[in-house]
Amino acid sequence: MRGATDSSGLTFRQDYFGDDAAWAALVSLLKDTFGIDIDPLRQLGGADPTSMPFGWFDDTGTLAANLSAFAMPIVINGRTINAAGFQSGAVRPPWRGRGLYRDVTAKALEWCDQQRFEAVVLYTDKPDLYTPYGFVSLPMHLHAGDAPTPISATTPSRRLDPWIAEDLALLQETLNARVPVSDRLAVCRSSAMFLINTQFDADIRLSWLPEQQAVIAWKIGDDDCFVLSDVVASIIPPLPAILGGLGMSPRKVEVLFAPDRLGWQGQPRLLETTTRFMIRADAPVDLDQPAMLSPMADF
Ligand SMILES: CC(C)(COP(=O)(O)OP(=O)(O)OC[C@H]1O[C@@H](n2cnc3c(N)ncnc32)[C@H](O)[C@@H]1OP(=O)(O)O)[C@@H](O)C(=O)NCCC(=O)NCCS
Repeated sequence: MRGATDSSGLTFRQDYFGDDAAWAALVSLLKDTFGIDIDPLRQLGGADPTSMPFGWFDDTGTLAANLSAFAMPIVINGRTINAAGFQSGAVRPPWRGRGLYRDVTAKALEWCDQQRFEAVVLYTDKPDLYTPYGFVSLPMHLHAGDAPTPISATTPSRRLDPWIAEDLALLQETLNARVPVSDRLAVCRSSAMFLINTQFDADIRLSWLPEQQAVIAWKIGDDDCFVLSDVVASIIPPLPAILGGLGMSPRKVEVLFAPDRLGWQGQPRLLETTTRFMIRADAPVDLDQPAMLSPMADF
């Protein structure tokens, strides 16, 4: 039997992103809990418009406990699933152990059921928090192997900087028209997450390939390995064209999503991380083939 919730001195609020002070309270909660700053999202097109935050505030406006849901349609095993994502789950230390997280989780799940989402997905390093609600972990695999021979391009690529208005507009336009980068596992859109994730990894580079009308998120990894994090385009270009467009001719490649649309295979390798990708759905979900969600879709 689960314990009761002690919410004394707190007020519950839902759907509060329109309130600047409440948004600032969430930014502060996530900074203090995870050391991340999501405030730049305001300049990068704003939070996901489908976001539905559930939070307990004290009478000074401090956010004590929060969990946010948002629409995150994904492709799994070739099928588009109308999924919701859970993010920003945290409780400030003085208010822990009172059942507040259990409370916001129950409220968020109930909202997802009312909205008729087919599944709920999340990332966590505490899977035990979610297994009681029927969430299961899916293994994530990157793909690594020898690089293909690049196909050289006539028009050079150019770097994109989301802090330049013209580049941000091009990024947003391309994100809005994107197709999933893989049929095995990929987000359908998730523009806000892509844009904020450009701020969380200092090594990530964004390049525009004019011939393919594609945004490439990439970096150089250990031993000069070319690491491909995401491809945003309405037609996914093959890997040789991506390398040629970027003017790269690496020896090794790692692809951080399933490469089924890249015309290149590589070998799957289990991602060794404490973070789990979990899913809750009416029918059991398993990946038919090794895959992972692009880190640019992290949420
Ligand atoms: C994890 C966290 C959200 C729990 O918040 P909380 O308000 O203390 O949790 P609750 O009191 O509502 O407890 C809910 C349930 O989770 C369990 N739980 C609490 N902390 C847990 C942990 N670290 N790991 C596994 N289970 C945990 C509780 O035992 C309780 O179980 P019950 O429902 O069977 O009684 C909070 O400690 C926190 O913010 N931690 C840092 C950020 C974090 O890890 N967020 C979750 C990331 S996805």
